[in-house]
Amino acid sequence: MASRTPFAGPLQVDPWRLTEQALLPAQPLLCETLLSLANGYIGTRGTLEEGLAGQSSCEGTYLNGVYSSEPIQYGESACGFARNNHTMLQVANGKRIYCELDGERIELGGALEHQRSLDMRQGLLQRQWQWQSKNGKRLLISSQRLVSMQHPELMCITYQLTALNFTGEVQVFSELDACYAPFSKKDDPRVGVFSIADTLNLQQQGFAGQQGWMLHRVHGSDFAVCAMMQHEWPAVAGGIRQLQQQPGVLCEQASWTLQQGEAASLTKWVLYRHQTSQHSSDLTAWCHQQLATLSQHSFADLAAAQAQACQQFWQQADVQIEGDAAMQQGIRFNLFSLWQSAGKDGHSNIGAKGLTGPGYDGHYFWDTEIYVIPCLSFTQPVVARQLLGFRYRQLDAARLRAREMAHSKGALYPWRTIGGEECSAYFPAGTAQYHINAAIAYAIRSYYLATADWDFMREQGIEMLVETARLWLELGFFNPRRDGAFEIHAVTGPDEYTAIVNNNFYTNAMAQLHLRFAIEMVAKLEAEAPERLKDWQLSAAELALWQQAAEQMYLPLDKRLGVHPQDDSFLEKQRWDFAATPKDKYPLLLHYHPLVIYRHQVLKQADVVLAMVLLDDAISPAQKARNLAYYEPLTTHDSSLSACIHSIACAELGQLEQALTFFGDSARMDLDNQHGNTEHGVHIACMAGTWQALVFGFAGLRSRPDGLHFAPRLPAQLPGLSFRLNYRGRILEFSVQQGKAQYQLQQGEPLTIYHDGEALQLIPQQPQQRPLLAGEVL
Ligand code: BGC
Repeated sequence: MASRTPFAGPLQVDPWRLTEQALLPAQPLLCETLLSLANGYIGTRGTLEEGLAGQSSCEGTYLNGVYSSEPIQYGESACGFARNNHTMLQVANGKRIYCELDGERIELGGALEHQRSLDMRQGLLQRQWQWQSKNGKRLLISSQRLVSMQHPELMCITYQLTALNFTGEVQVFSELDACYAPFSKKDDPRVGVFSIADTLNLQQQGFAGQQGWMLHRVHGSDFAVCAMMQHEWPAVAGGIRQLQQQPGVLCEQASWTLQQGEAASLTKWVLYRHQTSQHSSDLTAWCHQQLATLSQHSFADLAAAQAQACQQFWQQADVQIEGDAAMQQGIRFNLFSLWQSAGKDGHSNIGAKGLTGPGYDGHYFWDTEIYVIPCLSFTQPVVARQLLGFRYRQLDAARLRAREMAHSKGALYPWRTIGGEECSAYFPAGTAQYHINAAIAYAIRSYYLATADWDFMREQGIEMLVETARLWLELGFFNPRRDGAFEIHAVTGPDEYTAIVNNNFYTNAMAQLHLRFAIEMVAKLEAEAPERLKDWQLSAAELALWQQAAEQMYLPLDKRLGVHPQDDSFLEKQRWDFAATPKDKYPLLLHYHPLVIYRHQVLKQADVVLAMVLLDDAISPAQKARNLAYYEPLTTHDSSLSACIHSIACAELGQLEQALTFFGDSARMDLDNQHGNTEHGVHIACMAGTWQALVFGFAGLRSRPDGLHFAPRLPAQLPGLSFRLNYRGRILEFSVQQGKAQYQLQQGEPLTIYHDGEALQLIPQQPQQRPLLAGEVL
């Protein structure tokens, strides 16, 4: 099913920028997503300051980790069904600035030229346009926007007007608007209904000194949110500022007298902050004070600090590829988006769409653990640690969920959530995905292997491992009809085109890995702090049972086909008729009832193939090749989580052309809107998966307990690749030049790594080179 879509995005190809050179955006919603800015707490879509009259737009500013909650309405409910849905919080739009000249509204419709650009080295969205009034007066309008990486609660905008061919007065309005239009897409289950008016209940608002503010309570949850703005008006505004308000909208207005050729600019600081009733401090007072302090920093100061933060980020995370500028832009954009959207405070996570749009209601999925954390553990380990800390904070909620699901012990993490509660209304492709527990264990293992952060393991990691591991014994059983094999029934694996099956290979194999790692970590902890095991009432008998379950885990192999069956029933089903399925019937989930899909051999996304990538050398290359050859033609890649994993699997087997095709689909998934739904937000897992496709795929990195193993194979079209890894307190650089792989320890203690099984001793500043591996593995 691999087919490479040619570069087709609306933004220009450039290694460091996303530039739109259009008078009117051809795909406004798409560009709003792509030009989003975020800092892990605030996310704001790349909408225009003045709005887009007459065109569809999806306004949105979001706060990570903050949500409204609404009871899920079922036609037919049942015991244990998820009760409430959380929706990522939309807050007041502080970007809104618009102008009038001689009573005429200045809008993009009257533009003579227009350019916007997201600069990934500066962390800024810049815009410049020229507008002409009906009677020929021309204005140059420039704005710059940033969401501060240094100050999580702050967004800042500078807005400049230049009177090009006239002297006169312009009316400038700047708003804080909590009444903007809702957004929904009823025919697509992946997009929720996003209505700010339905989620925020206005408590108070007003102007105080230089600041305009509003305080809301959030529907169905315990959050209060304060949004506040402050301006520095230019001298041309004459110091006369008019304040207007209606419920949910605050507006400051000033008239600027501009001389011909004169430029004047406004600076606007916007602050957002939330708190729960557990905090007794006065939220509004805190915001007034904080904004007064932060507004001492000019836009230029904030921009300089932003550029510095970006520089530090790229220093650690940049990946360079030669030979394909579009791919280079894709990978940078993906990394930049991950950094922007990842929660960094331990109280928030990273949504499937980041902080860039309403898709999936802003929910957090296993995407974080299988896709994002393995990437961040090597590039931003501090952030990876915070994301794991977030899951630890929700461990009690996961314990509660396990009890609701009739498990007497352990914890079951929700398939999708923000606040910790299961929010999946469709349980066959939700709660049934028990493999979320294995994903969390896998992420803990990835992080630990990359960082050796034993403090984390002792304080949080092992407790999560234990509680999640316990659940496998609650869920599965030793089946006497299969000689006591440990079986797990009635679950859904990663592939959502098959649901509620027995012995999903991926789930069983990942549960085995999970149990074994948990046993190993418990033994290590026991030697140091045996009292922790007592706290968890973890007995030798329970551990022995885990061991037995891991050993006897049912992992079948179909003798006739020589492949791992996806589950007990998969291979018995009829194959999907791909030849008779027109292109416009994809993704299948939007065109066929789930039952039609479930009764066929057809995959939405990598399942056995994902297992074999994650399980590393536990499966032989010959077996991997057979599995890939069987499942690839059945995989639609309707999920954006799929192509990157197939790229890794192909690269490992030396099928480099195919690997490159899959990599290309992932690297520019959002820039080229390949799934046709980037309008509702970027695809975060795919973005992190792109990094994995380069690092785990082409560079062939496997992170094992004994160290880092590389097996680099590069397709001819990508002659050069380089990236850095943060590894157990060291900085390691991998690069490919002139057909050779080079390993260089840039910082830290000497280290042994492995190239195609050969041990290489790395000493700072003494690079080692080895030839690339060639050809197909089999
Ligand atoms: C995929 C899931 C994924 C979710 C959010 C779905 O389409 O099938 O695996 O977790 O999207 O990205």
